Amino acid sequence: MSAREFDIYDVVGIGFGPSNLSLAVALDEFRVNGMGNVFSNIFFERRSSFAWHPSMLLPSATMQISFLKDLVTFRNPTSSFSFVAYLHESGRLPRFVNNQDFFPTREEFHQYLEWAQARVAHRVAYGSEARSLRLPAGVGPERADRLCLQVADAASGTSRMVEARNVVISTGLVPTMPTGVERGERVWHSSEFLERFRRTSPARIRRVAVVGAGQSAAEITRFLYDELPHAEVSAIIPSYGYCVADDTPFANEVFDPEAIDDYYYATERTREALWRYHSNTNYSVVDDSVIRDLYRRSYEDDLRDVGRLRFLRLTRVAGVRSVGAQTRVSLRAGIDGDLRDLDVDVLVCATGYAAMEPTGLLGDLDQYCLRDEAGRYRIERDYRIVTAPEMQCGIYLQGGTEHTHGLSSSLLSNIAVRSGEIIDSIVARSAERTAPCAVLAEA
Ligand code: FDA
Ligand code: NAP
Repeated sequence: MSAREFDIYDVVGIGFGPSNLSLAVALDEFRVNGMGNVFSNIFFERRSSFAWHPSMLLPSATMQISFLKDLVTFRNPTSSFSFVAYLHESGRLPRFVNNQDFFPTREEFHQYLEWAQARVAHRVAYGSEARSLRLPAGVGPERADRLCLQVADAASGTSRMVEARNVVISTGLVPTMPTGVERGERVWHSSEFLERFRRTSPARIRRVAVVGAGQSAAEITRFLYDELPHAEVSAIIPSYGYCVADDTPFANEVFDPEAIDDYYYATERTREALWRYHSNTNYSVVDDSVIRDLYRRSYEDDLRDVGRLRFLRLTRVAGVRSVGAQTRVSLRAGIDGDLRDLDVDVLVCATGYAAMEPTGLLGDLDQYCLRDEAGRYRIERDYRIVTAPEMQCGIYLQGGTEHTHGLSSSLLSNIAVRSGEIIDSIVARSAERTAPCAVLAEA
């Protein structure tokens, strides 16, 4: 999509990963099942085509969530956009069931997401980076019933303005590096892993280290060990050993739709307790099967007296510098925190992500977005940023709401229900307004 269809869109989505894809599908179903009218909508995605963490699509990596937590099922189990509908259309439903596995590969789930996005792609502008939001010229917050969004088009090198009654920001997690460590030709973050790996001659990687003890680190360590049979692979892990991701049934209930209310309406102390008890469902943890895969490889190394896979336990990266063709990693190791160096050809920092951060996009509008005592955005239960009361237009977040809505904020667990709740909110709030939100006839 490139042409502008409407002067003012009712809903503009920023970013088109699974969260806003789920919203696009929900808007589609709202049109079909709703009032015969449509909320005009458009989505802007900076990538040139759909992709979901493409540099981590490692062979055999599996989903960390049941396939039933797809784009739609928890909101609308009869949707034609479900993972089961995709399997049916692909002719693989019986064989998928024979597998008796709730956790498909990331490759298969990616194909499902691509299949779903193809059906709504006419409402997505790819290669379009949202730059900043602002109020329309000459309009103060007291009369603001719409916002202006500047969008840069990668193909033409030009930018355009779009007006929106509501924006839904879903720009995803932000990769983090160890303090003081910069990315470079030989220092990669896990989020760019496959892209970098494919551009590097494998023969040139004889010593490689992977930093971190989360799912990304464990999957990349396993991949490098298998792909580079000539190389020494060092895993720099801050813990004694990898810790298992708790996906047992009671703990998994923290991701249920009802848990959002429990978190949202809890006291700050209860919220802290929820994080303390249950962050091991997601952060700095690894699936049991991947841990066992790595242990088995390490054991077989021992058996053959190869010593190709090394685990540097209780160790953190303190700094990195170039020494000739080598990358010298400064390690703070062991209980005493002794410093020592490790020379490698490539260092992969699987050191995680920070939460989605909309401040840059909000620009001058940020002054009308209210914050709590800790400086975090105040968010309504319906995922709308609490704005100066006179502002009628809505700024919704999909992601970046861990402090208000809990652990599932950055995950897929709740995207179907959340998208439905955002549409319900837009419908209810537009009905409340004296000047009703223009409901445009279907294009
Ligand atoms: P996501 O990051 O997917 O999409 C954001 C999009 O916004 C991107 O396409 C980006 O290009 C675009 N964008 C950013 N800035 C923009 C701008 N200014 N203008 C336009 N576009 C912009 N969770 C889970 O529940 N189960 C799982 O199995 C996994 N697996 C998993 C694997 C890996 C490798 C990672 C790193 C993470 C996961 N996750 C996960 C968590 C992950 O956050 C989740 O799966 C989704 O990616 C969340 O979808 P979003 O659409 O919110 O963000
Ligand atoms: P993560 O869970 O946040 O793990 C980051 C790791 O890096 C932690 O072990 C952290 O240790 C370590 N670390 C940070 N700084 C360090 C330093 N200076 N030295 C040594 N170690 C350091 O990040 P992730 O593994 O990328 O996972 C992020 C999300 O993506 C999760 O939701 C995960 O489930 C998901 N994911 C899913 C899949 C899949 O679906 N198959 C694959 C990969 C990732 P500390 O905790 O001690 O700081």
